[in-house]
Amino acid sequence: MSLSMNWRAAALCLLLVAGGAFAADGAPAKAASGHASTRIPGHAAIASANFHATEAGLEVLARGGNAFDAAVAVAATLSIVEPESSGIGGGFMAVLHRASDGHDVFIDARETAPAAVDAQDYLNPDGSPDRDTALKGPLSAGIPGEPAGLVLIAKRYGRLPLAQSLAPAIRIAREGFEPDERLREAIAGMQEDLQRWPASAAKYLPGGKPPAAGVIWKDPDQARTLELIASHGDQGFYHGETARKLVAAVRAAGGNWTLADLASYRAKERTPITVDYRGYRIVTAPPPSSGGVAIAEILNILSGYDLTKMDAATRTHYVIEAMRRAFRDHNDYLGDPDFVKMPLDMLLSPFYADGLRQSILPDKATPSSMLPRAEAAEPGMHTTHFSIIDADGNMAAVTSTVNYTMGSSFVAEGTGVLLNDEMDDFALVPDKPNVYGLLGSKANAPVGGKRMLSSMSPSLVIGADRTAVIGSPGGSTIITQVLEGILHFIDGESAQQIAAHKRFHHQYLPDVVNVETGVFDAATSDALTKMGYTLKPREAWGFMNVVTWDRKANQLDAASDPRRPSGLGKVQ
Ligand code: GLY
Repeated sequence: MSLSMNWRAAALCLLLVAGGAFAADGAPAKAASGHASTRIPGHAAIASANFHATEAGLEVLARGGNAFDAAVAVAATLSIVEPESSGIGGGFMAVLHRASDGHDVFIDARETAPAAVDAQDYLNPDGSPDRDTALKGPLSAGIPGEPAGLVLIAKRYGRLPLAQSLAPAIRIAREGFEPDERLREAIAGMQEDLQRWPASAAKYLPGGKPPAAGVIWKDPDQARTLELIASHGDQGFYHGETARKLVAAVRAAGGNWTLADLASYRAKERTPITVDYRGYRIVTAPPPSSGGVAIAEILNILSGYDLTKMDAATRTHYVIEAMRRAFRDHNDYLGDPDFVKMPLDMLLSPFYADGLRQSILPDKATPSSMLPRAEAAEPGMHTTHFSIIDADGNMAAVTSTVNYTMGSSFVAEGTGVLLNDEMDDFALVPDKPNVYGLLGSKANAPVGGKRMLSSMSPSLVIGADRTAVIGSPGGSTIITQVLEGILHFIDGESAQQIAAHKRFHHQYLPDVVNVETGVFDAATSDALTKMGYTLKPREAWGFMNVVTWDRKANQLDAASDPRRPSGLGKVQ
């Protein structure tokens, strides 16, 4: 499949070549080299969504592991203690920075469609989207990428054997832990779906009910599956006992996985997207995430303005207009790079951004209907992110997901593995929004072996004196949260301030600005409304986990989003 540049893109390119200087504070600044080799004596920082996971990472560091071993420990532990958001039945995307040689790499452990995928399975008889099949049960699940991704990180970047990095997660699964309020609420919220499959009900609804506060909860099946990965690597999940159990359970419940789907899964190393902005180098996620492309496009547009000299309403206006344009491109162009040719050179070019900037009026919202496309729904809230810096300056930004809360709600019998419902991230029905209200084109159509487009945006922000590792869950809002976090960090905010900062979000369609209570004062809200924006209050969203490193002060900092008490940012 190939995507050719359409008339609109071509027109924009012409406009660009004709016009626009690359101006003001974002003049392609001499960005930092990003070679973060200074040692931070005895220090490391981890921020994750669950204190067991942060402590597991710190334990592995104390045993001589590096940030990458710690990343394996944190991800595997989250699979046990935060299964509502991520796990070995799902996938992740990570940006790693190796301090010894400044190597930056993107780890793509995104799920793939099974070979037998059939878009018709996701349609009702009248041709409308069948949301239940897309989001629940075995047909909603892609082939998991997380186990292969963890094996790859341990082998190529870690210092410890995989078995040592997986040990804390296995121990917690065997000895048990107290499910936190967030997990208990997630299970209660998904109770009806979990009841549909016996292995899901047996695992998550012991005695027919969600676990009560204070119970100690064990996960022996998942412990066994992790032990097989610990001793056999990829072979322990994608072949042999686990693979047979996964395929048997999926097929018995009406799914279409085969042993060949599992055996052919590969996690991949890709080149991250980098963009320079106000003296910082941002290293972020390439396709099959749309996040990095959107963030780079937004920063390229914003680099033509001096946001620091603007009042809040004008600054917000330009940020929203940049978001609007980047999300519009996301819908049209992006998909799995192994299947789709994408005009990335164009989308990431400062000249393209110049042209987009020229379409932004200084004092008026551009209705999305003037940048044509279709309708959409509320953005959603799931997934998990953690950030790590170790004493050598190695960094890991990891965003991991089973997609919607509790994924597909389907546990494959005998494995303890809760499967993802990532198939919904494909454009299953062209021009109909997915659970995050995102639209898709042919570039993101489902094909066997193909990765579905993601919004996950694990990112590094590397400056001469200050560096941040940043990311968040939140479906389509991931992109705007990370973008706002990057802007706040560059403005000088601390890890705590960035994680706590109030948020706003625009994703092209629906043409509204989601606003968290308190993000704008009355005068700013008023000014934005007069410019033509529809401000739509929404409950707080996101679960940002940030670590920062001030090289001059030789100081690390870690912060977990104060909106969610289960998280822990810790410097040790
Ligand atoms: N499943 C959410 C995402 O990958 O963006």
